[in-house]
Amino acid sequence: MSDKRVITDERMMSAKVVRILLGVSGGIAAYKTAQLTRLLVKSGADVRVVMTEGAQAFITPLTFQALSGNSVHTHLLDPEAEAGMGHIELAKWADLIVIAPASADIMARLAAGMANDLLTTLCLATEAKVLLAPAMNQAMWRHPATQRNATQLTDYGYRLLGPDQGEQACGDVGLGRMLEPEALAELIQEAMPSLSPSAAPQPLAGKVVTITAGPTREAVDPVRYISNHSSGKMGFALAEAALQAGAHVNLIAGPVQIAAPKGVNLLPVQSAEQMLAASLSVIDQTDIFIAAAAVADFRPANAADQKMKKQAGQNEMVLHLVQNPDIVATIAQHEQRPFTVGFAAETQDVEIYAADKLVRKNLDMIIANDVSRTDIGFNSDENAVTLLWQHEGMLQAHKPEQAAKQQLAQDLIEHIIAQFCHLKQK
Ligand code: C5P
Repeated sequence: MSDKRVITDERMMSAKVVRILLGVSGGIAAYKTAQLTRLLVKSGADVRVVMTEGAQAFITPLTFQALSGNSVHTHLLDPEAEAGMGHIELAKWADLIVIAPASADIMARLAAGMANDLLTTLCLATEAKVLLAPAMNQAMWRHPATQRNATQLTDYGYRLLGPDQGEQACGDVGLGRMLEPEALAELIQEAMPSLSPSAAPQPLAGKVVTITAGPTREAVDPVRYISNHSSGKMGFALAEAALQAGAHVNLIAGPVQIAAPKGVNLLPVQSAEQMLAASLSVIDQTDIFIAAAAVADFRPANAADQKMKKQAGQNEMVLHLVQNPDIVATIAQHEQRPFTVGFAAETQDVEIYAADKLVRKNLDMIIANDVSRTDIGFNSDENAVTLLWQHEGMLQAHKPEQAAKQQLAQDLIEHIIAQFCHLKQK
């Protein structure tokens, strides 16, 4: 097993995934539970959904399967499901059971201690905390039977989240609406503090990551410039991923049309020379430098002070260009160089050119992408890349699946962290 893998596994193990069994009973509010599932998955929980028969009249198991990434449990005595994870096993698996919506019927059955379907059986068999989000018509909620059941359930140690006051699907107004998914997710996080994003592992806490992103603009005169089609999306996604990993992030961005992630230190620039100056201004505090910018290789030798006018009879024009500084190579040559990662956008023999650039620019890692494809890379939302680095003289490669730039950025940052930690430990 490589050292990189060991580090990644250690980080994973320190963050125990919270396992939530999400019960859905029959009620119109069941459609809101789809959003709750998404929020819980996003906060890092492993979510398994159990639906009552009534729930399936409102929303399909397929919806929850797609959102939770796990198959949905619907029957108590289904031999196939029992062979996979039996009901007792499922009850033991859960760290927490949440029932949303909790109908008057399921509250009554739970209060009576019944076990006549999968969800009630699981609640009886579990030792995990059970949270209920009641949702029903206001008259049903006010009925003494429901009120008695609610008290009984609280006595058993179940916790009720809501219900809320307001307009109901049937047109009535009163107490009985299910709390909104965002409010429920917050209350669930309070009950399970290890779920909150702040409790997620922060492998880059106390570290500074500096990222260049977007194109540069090289002035020809006050109204014209040379530039390229870089959108900045990949660099901005990396900035977001580094931020989520706990880093302080300097984002040195050329002119782009997208908003910077909240919380980064944005250093907006125009030209390659400005980008280099901004990079050098933070290099001493930088632990990891990622050059995702599409820097113009050349700039006009002398940008005109005034707008250049065409002359009568002029059929052609020659622009004298000079080479721009290579920002990432300059950073990588610095005396106290940070861990340095570059990009290689190529149209052919992508990995061969990238491997050459890795050595030539003295980089620690390089992210290679094929810009000849129009469905990925420049300006698109998805990308497919190969991450290359040297390990004990051998070229190593990591090739994640083509994915949205945000998802890819998280994967790349994880691998960059692993290699950064590995070199630090040496
Ligand atoms: O040499 P090439 O432009 O293909 O190298 C690409 C990598 O070098 C990218 O990481 C890019 O951000 C960086 N670069 C730079 N300064 C330049 C040219 C490229 O930092 N002038």
